[in-house]
Amino acid sequence: MAKRRKQCLVGAAVPRLLHLVMLLVALDLVRRCRAASPSSSSSPDAKAMSELARALSGVPSSWKTGSDPCDPEWDGVTCSAGRVSSINLASRGVSGTLPDSLNALTSLASLQLQRNRLSGPLPLLPDLASLQSLFLDGNAFDLLPNTFFAGLSALQEISLDDLPLAPWNLSQDLAAAVGLSKLSASNASLSGTLPDFLGSLPNLNVLRLSYNQLTGPLPSSLAGSSVQQLLLNNQQSRDKLSGRIDVLSAMPQLTMVWLQSNSFTGPIPDLSNLTALESFNVRDNALTGVVPPSLTACPTLRNATLSNNLLQGPFPQFSSKSVTLDIDKGNQFCNSGDSPCDPRVTALLAVAEGFGYPAVLAKSWKGNDPCASWLGVTCNAQKDIIVLNFGSQHFGGVISPAFASFTALRQLYLSNNGLTGLIPDSLTQLPQLQLLDVSNNSLSGKIPAFSSSVTLKLDGNTKLGSDSDSSGGSSSSPSSGMPGSTSGSSGNSGGSKSSSAAMIAGIIVAVVVLVGCSVALFMHYHKKKQEKKFGRVPMGTPPNEPEIVSIGVGGMNGNGGGLGMLYSQSSAGSTGSYMVEAQGMHISIQSLRRATNNFSEDNVLGRGGFGIVYKGDHNGTLIAVKRNQCDLMGKKGQEEFKAEIDVLKKVKHRNLVTLLGYCDDAQERLLVYEYMSGGTLGDHLFEWQSRHEPPLTWKQRLTIALDVARAIEYLHSLAQESFIHRDLKPSNILLDKDLRAKVSDFGLVKLADDNQKSMMTRLAGTFGYLAPEYATTGKVSTKVDVYAFGVILMELITGRKVLDESLPPEDSHLVALFRRGFSHEKNKFLNAMVDQILELDEEAHQSLAEVADLAWHCTAREPYQRPDMSHAVNRVAPLVEQWRPTNCAIEDDGEPSLSLTERLKRWRYDNTNSTTESFDYTSSDV
Ligand SMILES: *[C@@H]1O[C@H](CO)[C@@H](O)[C@H](O)[C@H]1NC(C)=O
Ligand SMILES: *[C@@H]1O[C@H](CO)[C@@H](O)[C@H](O)[C@H]1NC(C)=O
Ligand SMILES: *[C@@H]1O[C@H](CO)[C@@H](O)[C@H](O)[C@H]1NC(C)=O
Ligand SMILES: *[C@@H]1O[C@H](CO)[C@@H](O)[C@H](O)[C@H]1NC(C)=O
Ligand SMILES: *[C@@H]1O[C@H](CO)[C@@H](O)[C@H](O)[C@H]1NC(C)=O
Repeated sequence: MAKRRKQCLVGAAVPRLLHLVMLLVALDLVRRCRAASPSSSSSPDAKAMSELARALSGVPSSWKTGSDPCDPEWDGVTCSAGRVSSINLASRGVSGTLPDSLNALTSLASLQLQRNRLSGPLPLLPDLASLQSLFLDGNAFDLLPNTFFAGLSALQEISLDDLPLAPWNLSQDLAAAVGLSKLSASNASLSGTLPDFLGSLPNLNVLRLSYNQLTGPLPSSLAGSSVQQLLLNNQQSRDKLSGRIDVLSAMPQLTMVWLQSNSFTGPIPDLSNLTALESFNVRDNALTGVVPPSLTACPTLRNATLSNNLLQGPFPQFSSKSVTLDIDKGNQFCNSGDSPCDPRVTALLAVAEGFGYPAVLAKSWKGNDPCASWLGVTCNAQKDIIVLNFGSQHFGGVISPAFASFTALRQLYLSNNGLTGLIPDSLTQLPQLQLLDVSNNSLSGKIPAFSSSVTLKLDGNTKLGSDSDSSGGSSSSPSSGMPGSTSGSSGNSGGSKSSSAAMIAGIIVAVVVLVGCSVALFMHYHKKKQEKKFGRVPMGTPPNEPEIVSIGVGGMNGNGGGLGMLYSQSSAGSTGSYMVEAQGMHISIQSLRRATNNFSEDNVLGRGGFGIVYKGDHNGTLIAVKRNQCDLMGKKGQEEFKAEIDVLKKVKHRNLVTLLGYCDDAQERLLVYEYMSGGTLGDHLFEWQSRHEPPLTWKQRLTIALDVARAIEYLHSLAQESFIHRDLKPSNILLDKDLRAKVSDFGLVKLADDNQKSMMTRLAGTFGYLAPEYATTGKVSTKVDVYAFGVILMELITGRKVLDESLPPEDSHLVALFRRGFSHEKNKFLNAMVDQILELDEEAHQSLAEVADLAWHCTAREPYQRPDMSHAVNRVAPLVEQWRPTNCAIEDDGEPSLSLTERLKRWRYDNTNSTTESFDYTSSDV
């Protein structure tokens, strides 16, 4: 060393002026000399550290290349036994790319480079077998190589949050890091699924992988793991994390569970073994079922966030008042916390629990009234549940013994699912049970001893009835639900009341609503854009053979969504394609969200077969937005949607609800109609007492009858084409504030070619209003609507629903009763049957008799015996003129003297001369 110094300090005698310069040069030489041949005592890591120092800018000034990083220790560097054991450059504004030579620091235990501006790819570090802490978060690294974790088996803490990495996966290499306690990599483009090995890392405490692109389920290996903080929220991938969260119940150490904004399904599991749980956030998933007491009673809980799921049952009451809650939005609780839930709801939830709380039920089962079109549930007039149909729903799980609590249950359909376990003995105690269909499941065990009056359908359960006569005579009756006739000649055995059995069969058909999706089947047409406003829509050739008439059981109001399997089984011929012209009717989803207060529950007007109708305010115009539930609809629903738009854009009549626009978003399909403030005819006719409204007067009923007749006449005889409504009923007749009627729900309209006025079709409609020939053969013609109109006239006269289960069976079907009585003693019958609430003078009596006569003709058994709709208009119109209310101008927006043909002529004339203005019969402009 001394010799080397002598060599270097050559300039000792130069003049003073140059002294300083020479000194600097000398220092530089010294540095170079040392770098060129490192001293034997310098750290073996000096070279790697120098490369690191050179590769980065912004390192501390003590990081001098060539100097020993351990002697003295560079800023942020600690050494042990002459080796670099830790590097900490956190938050120092360092930039650059990490060099491969980092891999030479084989004693490195801690590398803390977080919150800098480091960029480029991460180097491979296979030799850093001592590395325990790796903090790289908050940099600009762009690549984490697949084999990055190979060799890093001592890792205990990893922090890779907020890195703009290319998508990467958690590789199996990390499984070797058995000491890992914290893995944090949120917002780091982590993709793929959660690997199983995570559950086998015995010390893993913190698993924080939020805001990534993860997909798939929580691995079941997490059961028994020691994870305390499970933060997997807000996955950005399309499918997000999904599946059930049952494994949580077996993770006793959990303190924080953040799973929000994913796609988890199924119920919140029993959390009673989680003795340290503080924060439970599952907001914005699709969780179903009842919130378990183990969560609400959890003593350590500090906050619980459950909003925007499909949680069911009573509104959860948390025992500790200090819990911060977010639970009230977007769930399906049956109450709001003050009143108990209906016992029928509680029992149905137990049934759903048996199936594992399927989402399809949770979506449909809203509120506290199972008779309000709940999927699969059919009630009678006393609101007893008489039919439960859960056929073909892909349900798993078991048959809950809770079915035994529906004491009025007559028919239970569970066929074509994946149900396992036993048929509960308790089902034999159902006193009214007539049919149990469990065919095509995976049930096992003994068949309980049902009474002989119960028809059992057990086929397709290979393990069932091993110790009894499983294949006996029990499943002999033909496939149920095929209508024999409208009066329901059913094959029910052993009933004391056979007419009541017939009635029941009737009800089964009644509740059928064949999902309107199927309607679109025949509509194969190709239409040139802008051809003409009422352009002809040629029909596809109707099939020669009758299509299968599928009948199923759903909610009273046409809970079609639940019957998905029924229509999906025959999908031939649904290849029609549509060209829907947009022409300014498209409304953005954003503006509909705004209009409906983001589809707020408060805006719900009603729920129907395909979705929910919301009230909205679109730039000052009140609208009704029909939001289709896509997931329940599938392709058929999409076709139906297009068909509905197509039909609605063609038909314009002041007695038809006007389509104002539509929205065909990626996920959403919405129709925007004019808003009708008066509710439905059904409300006014049958529910006026509970709605605290005055009953409709005879004048008002007549006017409504005329409005409906005109609407249907228009549909039937417009230009050269015919539209058939097929589902005319009081709940499809909407009233405005003046109680003028408009016909709605064109989802079921059938286009009929003029030459082909009757054709075979799938059954769609509502029993009670179904013409006999339609119900039995599926033959549809305009006379189907005439029949339904006749039924509605009867309801207007009597104030009675067409089907009234509360009456003795022989009186419960209004049409049968009416036709019987009317043909015997007309006047006596009318006096007995007329709605007692009506105050009628002599003149009114006459008009009522006239309408009754029309109703009788309209409901004639044979279609050809029924009049045309124009005949109906001609008979009702004079009665209305006679009864024209003084305070309400009936013909305010049209010329009453013009016949339909004249109107049409005028319209055609208008239409050829103007592109926007339409037909004087139009109620409002689009
Ligand atoms: C995610 O990381 C990026 C850098 O990769 C950062 O800019 C961004 O702010 C982070 N986002 C969140 C929500 O932290
Ligand atoms: C990540 O995993 C997924 C599925 O496991 C795989 O398809 C993909 O190729 C993997 N990506 C990488 C970068 O390894
Ligand atoms: C809770 O832990 C006990 C004991 O390990 C176990 O028997 C029980 O099944 C656990 N409960 C749940 C809901 O997992
Ligand atoms: C819920 O708990 C977590 C963790 O304890 C906390 O960060 C968060 O702010 C809490 N949220 C509310 C709304 O109190
Ligand atoms: C059960 O499955 C068979 C074969 O798939 C089918 O033919 C039968 O119609 C199914 N039974 C019922 C009741 O749907």
